[in-house]
Amino acid sequence: MMVYHRLYWSLWLFSCFRQNFGQELQFPEPANGAVGESVVLAPVNPPSTSFLITQWFFNSTFIIAVVSGVTSVNSSYEGRVRFDINTLALELQNLTLNDSGIYRLETSTVGAALMKGETSLQVFEKISSVRLIDPEELLIEDDSSASITSEGTGSITSVEWMKDNSPLSPSNRIIFSPDNRSVSISPVQRSDSGEYQCTYRNPVSSETAKLSLIINYGPENVSIEGPEVVDLGKRVSLFCFANSVPSASFIWRFNGTDTGVTTDTFTIDETDFTHSGDYECTASNSVTKRSASHRHALLVKGEGGGLTTGAIVGIVIGVLVAVAGICGLIFYLIKTKKIPSLNLHKNGRTSGAAAQSRQEPELNYADISHFQKAGGERVILGNNSEPSTEYAEVKSGAKSKAPPPPYGSQVSNHPLRR
Ligand SMILES: *[C@@H]1O[C@H](CO)[C@@H](O)[C@H](O)[C@H]1NC(C)=O
Ligand SMILES: *[C@@H]1O[C@H](CO)[C@@H](O)[C@H](O)[C@H]1NC(C)=O
Ligand SMILES: *[C@@H]1O[C@H](CO)[C@@H](O)[C@H](O)[C@H]1NC(C)=O
Ligand SMILES: *[C@@H]1O[C@H](CO)[C@@H](O)[C@H](O)[C@H]1NC(C)=O
Ligand SMILES: *[C@@H]1O[C@H](CO)[C@@H](O)[C@H](O)[C@H]1NC(C)=O
Ligand SMILES: *[C@@H]1O[C@H](CO)[C@@H](O)[C@H](O)[C@H]1NC(C)=O
Ligand SMILES: *[C@@H]1O[C@H](CO)[C@@H](O)[C@H](O)[C@H]1NC(C)=O
Repeated sequence: MMVYHRLYWSLWLFSCFRQNFGQELQFPEPANGAVGESVVLAPVNPPSTSFLITQWFFNSTFIIAVVSGVTSVNSSYEGRVRFDINTLALELQNLTLNDSGIYRLETSTVGAALMKGETSLQVFEKISSVRLIDPEELLIEDDSSASITSEGTGSITSVEWMKDNSPLSPSNRIIFSPDNRSVSISPVQRSDSGEYQCTYRNPVSSETAKLSLIINYGPENVSIEGPEVVDLGKRVSLFCFANSVPSASFIWRFNGTDTGVTTDTFTIDETDFTHSGDYECTASNSVTKRSASHRHALLVKGEGGGLTTGAIVGIVIGVLVAVAGICGLIFYLIKTKKIPSLNLHKNGRTSGAAAQSRQEPELNYADISHFQKAGGERVILGNNSEPSTEYAEVKSGAKSKAPPPPYGSQVSNHPLRR
């Protein structure tokens, strides 16, 4: 009975104290610290009662103890630890990498309850001197490979790459080294041009280095912009465009001959007809050693209004030539038609039918037409003597007055058909 009583008493005591005895001292998430800096390790739930004894340990070695208000510090921590008796917080200064580990706190209250808790501290060397090492050689699209290497000091827990402020992801051309500290791009393309950022990170610091990469390419899509037809005496410019990095240099040729113009613009201040022809722009890239050309035909034409003296003179000459030609033609016709026909009549009269049959058929026809036409009116007279003089008169009259249209048309048609 007595035994049971004591047992129950003990159990009661135990359960009563168990609340405190089993209570853990809680810490926020594991602490991080930087070499040379300080860190505070403090429980979030310090007991409210007064403490009898409090101790801090690192791994298993003693750091500091406060017993009934008396503080003792491990000599190796002298001068770089602080302890707050109210919050039980431990401040460690001048952290070194060797301070990383498990920190345990134990405290006993007046009621003899023991409270324990532990946390961990990870000390990092701050990151510094991060830089990116430029690929040495010039990068040419589709030909070159680029390797960007980073370096820096400190405890590096992660390496992140960005390009133009977006994360750089690996691909079949973009490959990261196993530790992510360097990236190689092979082969480079123009889309790889841009600003690369590399960030070294650890929980207590980070540093970013930047590098601009230029991928050289081109020239391509060379084109010439400008008119194809330009008026005489005008100013005209042709512009040559090329897709090229670095910017292309230009050479202009005219009809295959170098013009000496090496700018992107070819300007003619005042066009004349010798400027018509074939203009060729060749764009060259000094880095890629590539070049490409484009051709453009330019035609200089006289002004459309015909007001220039040259045009007027030309027209006048043309008209004169035409008039002279018509006059000459008429004269020729008169010479070849009229006179022979007159002669024929004379011959016919004088030499007879034999002479007539030897004559060309045309002349005969003409003769017949004459004869019929004139004969229609003057057959009786024609059969008589002296018809020739009268024919001549009839002809001239027919031309001016044109009473017999078939006669005039035949006269003009025959020589043309010939
Ligand atoms: C003091 O700390 C050192 C390590 O810094 C340890 O080796 C030593 O045992 C500690 N002293 C005591 C009395 O615990
Ligand atoms: C930290 O260590 C340096 C020497 O390494 C010393 O000069 C400095 O006083 C120390 N700081 C603290 C707070 O102990
Ligand atoms: C860390 O500890 C090692 C031995 O454990 C010692 O050689 C070294 O000097 C210590 N480093 C610092 C910064 O205290
Ligand atoms: C303390 O413990 C941690 C892990 O428990 C270990 O990594 C570290 O080296 C220890 N530090 C010392 C000084 O013993
Ligand atoms: C390298 O970075 C990728 C993300 O870009 C990450 O998934 C990977 O774990 C990193 N590797 C190392 C060794 O840091
Ligand atoms: C420019 O040239 C490239 C190849 O040289 C071609 O793929 C592209 O279509 C061209 N772009 C234009 C706008 O002509
Ligand atoms: C240039 O070539 C065009 C035809 O390709 C030709 O008509 C023109 O007369 C030429 N001009 C010169 C100045 O050679």
